Amino acid sequence: MRSFIVLFASAPVALGAAIVPRVPEGPWTAGVWRQPVDDDVFFVGDAINASGGKFWVHKDTSAYCPDGIEGLDCANYPGSRTVFVGGDNTISLSVSVPGGQQVYVAPDGALSYTTAHSAFMPNGSVATGFSRSQSQAFGAPIVLGMTDRSWLICPVGEGEPREKTYQLFAVEGGSQKEGCLFTGIRTYTSSADAWQYA
Ligand SMILES: *[C@@H]1O[C@H](CO)[C@@H](O)[C@H](O)[C@H]1NC(C)=O
Ligand SMILES: *[C@@H]1O[C@H](CO)[C@@H](O)[C@H](O)[C@H]1NC(C)=O
Repeated sequence: MRSFIVLFASAPVALGAAIVPRVPEGPWTAGVWRQPVDDDVFFVGDAINASGGKFWVHKDTSAYCPDGIEGLDCANYPGSRTVFVGGDNTISLSVSVPGGQQVYVAPDGALSYTTAHSAFMPNGSVATGFSRSQSQAFGAPIVLGMTDRSWLICPVGEGEPREKTYQLFAVEGGSQKEGCLFTGIRTYTSSADAWQYA
């Protein structure tokens, strides 16, 4: 019992897992939600975008649709936002490319996704433990969590703290990374948008 309490207290994400999931089916987008008490770097749902196998805030989505495939109309796949499916243990990108694209955490903690036509993940990656959950209160947000991990955004390059680009990580327990910020993630019902992410 003691170890349970310690674990619970040290991992903010575990709170999400304790709430009974009863979230809508279907695709969703995700955004960072941060209402800090000791700094003023707040975010209210800024989109988490896929690009180059990793996930970012304040960076454009990188999507791809191949030319010249019989019956494939790329006008139906604008790739204008990053859309996910799942959230009951595993997560994938919402794509039409055969084989799909799975989301996982790389050994360095970076939230990542497999390239199209490949299931490859580096040794030591974790692809399970994700959860979308909503408290019982009407209108409560649907939050994304991961067992025993916390979300961190790490700045990439220069700029105003609320505008610069960040990379998204899922770190074990409450471990901090130099210069990074803890954040929450909320999810929002959406619709499929891309053939594949690149
Ligand atoms: C996410 O990507 C889309 C499509 O490229 C872009 O319009 C949007 O501004 C990006 N969102 C953020 C928060 O950077
Ligand atoms: C993956 O890592 C584990 C533990 O570090 C190791 O035992 C195993 O041999 C590795 N597998 C490959 C294919 O490198």
